[in-house]
Amino acid sequence: MDKLCVNGPTQLKGEVHISKAKNAYLPLMAATLLATDKVTFTEVPGLRDIRTMHRLLEHHGVEIKEEGEGVFTYDCQKLKSEEAPYELVKTMRASICVLGPLLARFKKAKVSLPGGCAIGTRPIDLHLKNLEKMGAKIEIEGGYVIATTEGLKGTKLALDFPSVGATENLMMAACLAEGETIIENAALEPEITDLGNFLVKLGAKIEGLDTKTIKIQGVSSLGGTTYSAIGDRIEAATYIIAGLMTKSEMTVKGFDPIHIDAVIEKLAEMEAKMEIGHDYVKVFPSELVGTDIDTAPYPGFPTDVQAQILALSTQAKGLSIITEHIFENRFMHVPELQRMGAGITIKGNSAIVKGGKPLKGAPVMCTDLRASAALVLAGLCAEGVTEVRRIYHLDRGYEKLDKKFAGLSAPVERVQGD
Ligand code: UD1
Repeated sequence: MDKLCVNGPTQLKGEVHISKAKNAYLPLMAATLLATDKVTFTEVPGLRDIRTMHRLLEHHGVEIKEEGEGVFTYDCQKLKSEEAPYELVKTMRASICVLGPLLARFKKAKVSLPGGCAIGTRPIDLHLKNLEKMGAKIEIEGGYVIATTEGLKGTKLALDFPSVGATENLMMAACLAEGETIIENAALEPEITDLGNFLVKLGAKIEGLDTKTIKIQGVSSLGGTTYSAIGDRIEAATYIIAGLMTKSEMTVKGFDPIHIDAVIEKLAEMEAKMEIGHDYVKVFPSELVGTDIDTAPYPGFPTDVQAQILALSTQAKGLSIITEHIFENRFMHVPELQRMGAGITIKGNSAIVKGGKPLKGAPVMCTDLRASAALVLAGLCAEGVTEVRRIYHLDRGYEKLDKKFAGLSAPVERVQGD
């Protein structure tokens, strides 16, 4: 298994270009199941989760062609199988977003229940309950959700919690449902608006994007289009934090800083020196102070940046309290950071960080995607070599991480394993 060797402490120099968002592309790709004409995506990042989604779509009968680097066409004229098998779903929970489109277009879907994962139980009750309200018959059998319908019907839906995945599944299902669907308490994440903009380009009738109430008027079919997703706000936040952790002057480019407003606000509170442009953030060497952070649905502080800012707060003066409100088990990086010398105590769903203690390189283990990123960041400012193992988690969501760090003159090396 490959590992990353990070030889710290180091400083980063120059500019890094952010890839397009995997969390936008995964639902966009699921939405190609709705399209009767060809869809082309450009600037698709080379990531393991994207390859998993391609395998899943091909399993369903989507013909995918690579036309050039990061350019793919998707042709969904024929459905081969309505089943999303356990082997694929268990490696990537986002596979659940094929449920809505399969049901809407082909009137049947059989999707493995995703089950638990490292960061918590992550149920899909909101997806299922609301699809039922739209006229789906849902049974759970042998670990699979079996959904059928004689035709989905638009209706008023209200989410108990603004789930990203549930909002996406329901939006896609509603595009081909009869009549109007109103999704109340919809998630506001920028990836939802991106999906909505794409569906509109396919011919969907959607109002209220960027608001908590999304209205969709069903149409009989959707066409095709060419589309590119938004820049990856989580990758961007990760590199910004890397720059601040190493007291570097560097630029992170190719995304919309508005999408990480809550992160920028907290970093400013920590006294980070930054220059914010329309598609970049430049950071400068800063003496940081601790702060309190609570994760929340967008536009709140993203749970996907919690691990990275926790790593940063180990290097900020004073106390920080970081509270995780979205997932129940998302502090798996803490024991690994403690092994590097970080002063962190966990109390319930809060991490209390006594900042300012120098970190020391150590062999550490990745547990999930963002936790893994936090360990790389810690390695950049730790004394000595940090060996980050099980980096297949990083390969799920950070395109060319070692190469991007090499471009910033950081001694991050990928070592091939057995
Ligand atoms: C998406 C992101 C993930 C991010 C998360 C929260 C993708 C591919 N993944 O995941 O990176 O961390 O948003 O910003 O875009 N919940 C229920 N019932 C449901 C659905 C969700 O209880 O039916 C709960 C979950 O257990 C969790 C919370 O709602 O505690 C948030 O989940 P959700 O917004 O659905 O996240 P995902 O779409 O899975």
